[in-house]
Amino acid sequence: MAPSLRLLLALLCAAPAFGLPTSPYEVKESVNPPHGWVQHSTAPPEHSIELRIGLPQPNFGILESHLYEVSDPDHHRYGQHLSKEEVEELVAPHPGSLDAVDEWLAFHGIQEEDISRSPAKDWITLSLPVELVEKMLDTKYHVWKHTKTGDYIVRTTSYSLPIHLHEHVDVIQPTTMFSQFKPFRSTISKVEAAPATSATDSLGSLVNPATGLTIDASCNVTITVSCLQQLYNAVGFTPSAKGNSIGITGYLEEFASIADLEAFFVQQVPTAENSSFKFVSVNGGINNQSDPGFEASLDVQFAFGLSHPIPPTFFSTAGSPPFIADDDTPTNTNEPYLNWLDFILSQEKIPLSISTSYGDDEQTVPESFAKRVCADFAQLGARGTSLIFSSGDHGVGDGDSNPATQTCFTNNGKNETKFIPTFPATCPFVTSVGATDNVAPEVAVSRFFSGGGFSNYFSRPSYQDPTVPNFLSKLAPGTFEGLFNPNGRGFPDVSAQGDRFEIIVGGQAFLIGGTSASAPTVNGFISLLNDVRLSKGLPSLGFLNPFIYKKGFAGFTDILSGHNSGCGTTGFNVTKGWDPVTGFGTPNFGKLKELVLETGA
Ligand SMILES: *[C@@H]1O[C@H](CO)[C@@H](O)[C@H](O)[C@H]1NC(C)=O
Ligand SMILES: *[C@@H]1O[C@H](CO)[C@@H](O)[C@H](O)[C@H]1NC(C)=O
Ligand SMILES: *[C@@H]1O[C@H](CO)[C@@H](O)[C@H](O)[C@H]1NC(C)=O
Ligand SMILES: *[C@@H]1O[C@H](CO)[C@@H](O)[C@H](O)[C@H]1NC(C)=O
Ligand SMILES: *[C@@H]1O[C@H](CO)[C@@H](O)[C@H](O)[C@H]1NC(C)=O
Repeated sequence: MAPSLRLLLALLCAAPAFGLPTSPYEVKESVNPPHGWVQHSTAPPEHSIELRIGLPQPNFGILESHLYEVSDPDHHRYGQHLSKEEVEELVAPHPGSLDAVDEWLAFHGIQEEDISRSPAKDWITLSLPVELVEKMLDTKYHVWKHTKTGDYIVRTTSYSLPIHLHEHVDVIQPTTMFSQFKPFRSTISKVEAAPATSATDSLGSLVNPATGLTIDASCNVTITVSCLQQLYNAVGFTPSAKGNSIGITGYLEEFASIADLEAFFVQQVPTAENSSFKFVSVNGGINNQSDPGFEASLDVQFAFGLSHPIPPTFFSTAGSPPFIADDDTPTNTNEPYLNWLDFILSQEKIPLSISTSYGDDEQTVPESFAKRVCADFAQLGARGTSLIFSSGDHGVGDGDSNPATQTCFTNNGKNETKFIPTFPATCPFVTSVGATDNVAPEVAVSRFFSGGGFSNYFSRPSYQDPTVPNFLSKLAPGTFEGLFNPNGRGFPDVSAQGDRFEIIVGGQAFLIGGTSASAPTVNGFISLLNDVRLSKGLPSLGFLNPFIYKKGFAGFTDILSGHNSGCGTTGFNVTKGWDPVTGFGTPNFGKLKELVLETGA
């Protein structure tokens, strides 16, 4: 106590112009741990935490207005994306916030060389031992264990900051975040050895009554790149524009094998034979060729197979949560999106469409953190990149046990039952994708349930105003009252096939499903649409939703059957028009390629 008091007095005497280096502490954020997490032990004092400090972005509202103007197909600025420098200027913190936080860090002996900053200086990253973080945040960390998965993480349920700092800090993590970021493939047990492709060729063909398109009958059993081209009306289209690019994000040590991609191309996309992707390491992420993952294989094989020869990039972000209690190597226990965002926002060139098939229950991500991450996604949209996320595989529920009995407990301290939306799918600045299966006609997938519903954090964005209330008005009065937030951002926006995708992992063929398959599929088609625009000298599509909700929806095939069970209910029903199961439906490339040329010419 005494030394820090001396230090305090010394600092006070230094009398900085911008205010006190410290002040009494007040709670900044406090949460209830989500269902399933129990306190296990106190955190080892020397355990290293990679702390993230998010500073407020006072001009974010201006960035948001620019984003909506350049993404609105009826606006004269449509497609006039912002530069890296323009975006950075708009998200930069106030100099007063930088000074106040720097001073507080210096007070705790932390120097400029100990920290790293995001390009706009709106995030600070630093590695510190638990004991110092506990002092700085006037809190106590514990090792928490998940009763079902057995995972361990080091977290606290509440942290404090000196009162004068509250206005200069938006969020500090990892503190109160208990999320279990995971790939949205429908459980590994659903992966099964694939039938030989030739065995199904004799099945003949089917006509999809919704589109009139003819599709190999084998596509009702096994989805290949060719099936998606037939089903979504892109047969024979070859991208040719210069300057296009497509990306896939990989996390949690999900690696993508080049040999597997090669074998996949030989089988499914012969024209892509001998081509590969550019691998980009984020934060030390590797791409271990001896350890291919199901998620990464699915994502790169289908997104890059559909979009070949558009230049593909696979990003592998380091991080293998959870922390193992008796392992004292400094494990990164952070949400890995942020590491990827730091990296990608610092790049001059960013792939024009990027999909991510990972996420978690929205309620396990603290609201303050979800909002900041979502605001970072807005920066990418403003720069002209389309971001595509899976909507989750548990319908309106949380994936606990079976959908008929799952209880969907909230962690708001009231232990209520509520539908559990998925983050980042609920972020209004990304396009979220649900899942269908069968091909004649397509229906909402029923082997698992397409994630969908309404955000409890993000209110309905204006681009959904002409659409979502329509859906709500069709619900019988009182339907699911109290279980969902009718004023929240509805998701998903669109959907695509999501089951029985044939992929190659470790040299063997497997069938795999999940909205994990739907997101890279939509990514592939968006990349083709970017080709259509670029080849006419038009800019990339960028943030898609204002276009989709205003015009693009006419280029999607409405899904008319199915629902998304969860939380002991049958969930929402698919309806005519947008619904929180399959959004506007699945892409019709032939129609969309006309629609994307009607805008912003
Ligand atoms: C497609 O497969 C599903 C079962 O997975 C079946 O119910 C449906 O009848 C099949 N559709 C056609 C047109 O064969
Ligand atoms: C791929 O490489 C192999 C071996 O070099 C070659 O035989 C084959 O023709 C190539 N395929 C294509 C499509 O270029
Ligand atoms: C790569 O994966 C293999 C197989 O799992 C493993 O034995 C090897 O240690 C891994 N290499 C690295 C650098 O992680
Ligand atoms: C919430 O209530 C249910 C019973 O309604 C109970 O089984 C469960 O343990 C409670 N959870 C918590 C975290 O209190
Ligand atoms: C969904 O449709 C079924 C069958 O028509 C109906 O019984 C049920 O009430 C509907 N559910 C909702 C949430 O509208």
